[in-house]
Amino acid sequence: MTEAVSYEVLSDDAGAIAVIAIDNPPVNAASHAVRDGLMKAAQTFATDSSVEVAVLVGKGRTFIAGADIKEFGKPMQEPGLPDVVNYIESLDKPVVCAIHGTALGGGLETALSCHYRTAVASARVGLPEVHLGLLPGAGGTQRLPRLTGIEAAAEIITSGRHVGAREALKLGVVDAVDDGDDPLKAGLAFARRVLKEGLPARRTSEQNEKVEAARGNTLLFDSLRAMVKKKAKGQLSPELCLEAVIASAELSFADGVKRERELFMELMNSPQREALIHVFFADREVGKVPELKTGTPRPLDKAAVIGGGTMGSGISVSMLFAGMPVTMIEQDEEGSVRGRQNVERILDDGVKRGKFDQAHRDHLANNLYSVSADIASLSEADIVIEAAFENMDVKKELFRKIDKHAKEGAVLASNTSYLNINEIASVTERPADVLGLHFFSPAHVMRLLEIVVADNTDNDVAATGFALAKKLKKVGVRAGVCDGFIGNRILERYLSLASYLVEDGTSPYDIDRAVLKFGYPMGPNQMGDLAGLDIGYANRERKRKEGWNGRYAADYMDRITELGRYGQKTGRGFYIYEDGSRIGKEDPEVLEIIDQVRREKGIDPKPLDEDAIMRRYMAAMINEGARVVEEGIALRPLDVDITMLYGYGFPRWRGGPLKYADMIGLDTVLEDIRSFESEAPDFWKPADLIVDLVARGENFDSLNK
Ligand code: 3HC
Repeated sequence: MTEAVSYEVLSDDAGAIAVIAIDNPPVNAASHAVRDGLMKAAQTFATDSSVEVAVLVGKGRTFIAGADIKEFGKPMQEPGLPDVVNYIESLDKPVVCAIHGTALGGGLETALSCHYRTAVASARVGLPEVHLGLLPGAGGTQRLPRLTGIEAAAEIITSGRHVGAREALKLGVVDAVDDGDDPLKAGLAFARRVLKEGLPARRTSEQNEKVEAARGNTLLFDSLRAMVKKKAKGQLSPELCLEAVIASAELSFADGVKRERELFMELMNSPQREALIHVFFADREVGKVPELKTGTPRPLDKAAVIGGGTMGSGISVSMLFAGMPVTMIEQDEEGSVRGRQNVERILDDGVKRGKFDQAHRDHLANNLYSVSADIASLSEADIVIEAAFENMDVKKELFRKIDKHAKEGAVLASNTSYLNINEIASVTERPADVLGLHFFSPAHVMRLLEIVVADNTDNDVAATGFALAKKLKKVGVRAGVCDGFIGNRILERYLSLASYLVEDGTSPYDIDRAVLKFGYPMGPNQMGDLAGLDIGYANRERKRKEGWNGRYAADYMDRITELGRYGQKTGRGFYIYEDGSRIGKEDPEVLEIIDQVRREKGIDPKPLDEDAIMRRYMAAMINEGARVVEEGIALRPLDVDITMLYGYGFPRWRGGPLKYADMIGLDTVLEDIRSFESEAPDFWKPADLIVDLVARGENFDSLNK
């Protein structure tokens, strides 16, 4: 028929069955070739008098995984998917869809336009367009509610989650689940039933009972709207997904589809869609690093973690979750007891939250986990992760010992967040086996893992870092050696900026409000209160001792901390936390302390409004991000984006700081930086990379290719 879609007729005693098979590796995305092939195959079936039923099936690992995302933003080539699915549904002879792998987005929409659906037991279906800043645009918002009812459809479409075959059967999305793993076999079996029982071409669009049941139910619609708005946190697509689902109850099918198209086009043209699709591809590109071309991961069967504090216990738990036996090593018996308690506290919390049951908790704690005060007990480990105190001398001392006891070929990692991995590696006899693995706190929750490749790190060792990230279900980002690697280096820059803004006259509460409104889960001062202001204070003290004369305008922070106000844990920091609440109230005394510092320094306060705050905040982040790329610390701009998204709460729907810069225009960013430079030349200097890209009329994305 066409290269992407084949049409053949299979005949046996039960009768003739047309098989329409899609073959567009790797995931059978509904590209133009597939849409065109499907339309032609469906037309052939319509006029083929030798057959009364067809099976639609995907070749390879999956049914259709959705529209071809690479085609978005380019001119549409006919036929569009809505035309294809409407044509399939309009046929008078039944089409049976046989699903395996995933039927997602336009894939499920194609399935919903077929007259019957059967799925192998391992198959999953879903409408994940919401994650791309879109909504299902080929009738999915109108057909799915006709099968499941409004509430279930709203939940599936606004969450974008994958629904397993058995749940799909219960919800009425599929008509049968086949226990085997061959979709063609399952499809043919169903088609034979259609022939035998003379089942008609049953059209989803004509099944109105479930949507009519919700018609006019404004109470239901409003409660769904309130729920979705709360979860969306500034993202547009969940809300418009819901409006499209509500339209299925309020309008006829034909008008509902029109409404769906209008809302779909609104999202297609939105910057959020561009940002989220950037993230979709960046998520997949970030793992493609040069070391993986030749590097082969080493085994990762057993792990040792040095240190049982917050980081060590979180890292241990994340490995336990992945089924890796862990030996934790502490300095002495007392430390071992504390380390065990820290791990068990996290596991108990998992039981309390219903993430797993007590038996599983005990399995993790007893069968996989041991604590020792003897460093020699790391000798069995394939990977050793040092998560001790953040001090170069301490780390060097530990790595000398690790070197002595670790088995040959073991990967030796430091979880340092700032320190030089080359220097740490240099004290061992095997620097090629050493790398940085920078986890983020809480390490059993946060998805980011910076994989710091030092000068002598072997490619196999770097590859093992990426394999570990995968095993722990984390997102590994390759970073080079510098103070703070990718994320903390950029963080330091914008936190420093925020402190200057406060000293110069802006309220810390206004900064938090602006950052929150931008889409972050919290502002920098709320984050300080959560992490503990004493930590930043100790860091500054250490640096002051090393001769640092203050990159932060931190006097007011020092004063708040010196009053014993460490943040949430003491009930008071930038904010006041009453009765253990995590939501703080603004504190007039903090504003008074800041005013006092300004008076002492003779600063005439010039408060900034929300827009002025965010322009500076973002410019500081973008400028440092550019430097990180320019110096080769990050491989590409997308690595910076992924780091800030998964480790620092940057709103996903804004694409990451460097994508955001591209979208507002790199020339605009440069203009901003230059104007800030004229106000505060000590702080601002445009990164050469930005100047260069603007001069060439290029953007960050040109470096992602
Ligand atoms: N379009 C184009 N390329 C796609 C794609 C799509 N819909 N889905 C996956 N790919 C590509 C990936 O980019 C990757 O390419 P690479 O090898 O060059 O990096 C390759 O296919 C394999 O993908 P994964 O690495 O993600 O493979 P997994 O096996 O881990 O996951 C999957 C498979 C679950 C299908 C996952 O790829 C996925 O979730 N895909 C996106 C599904 C989706 O969002 N569909 C909705 C599209 S929008 C739509 O349909 C609009 C419609 O309503 C009109």
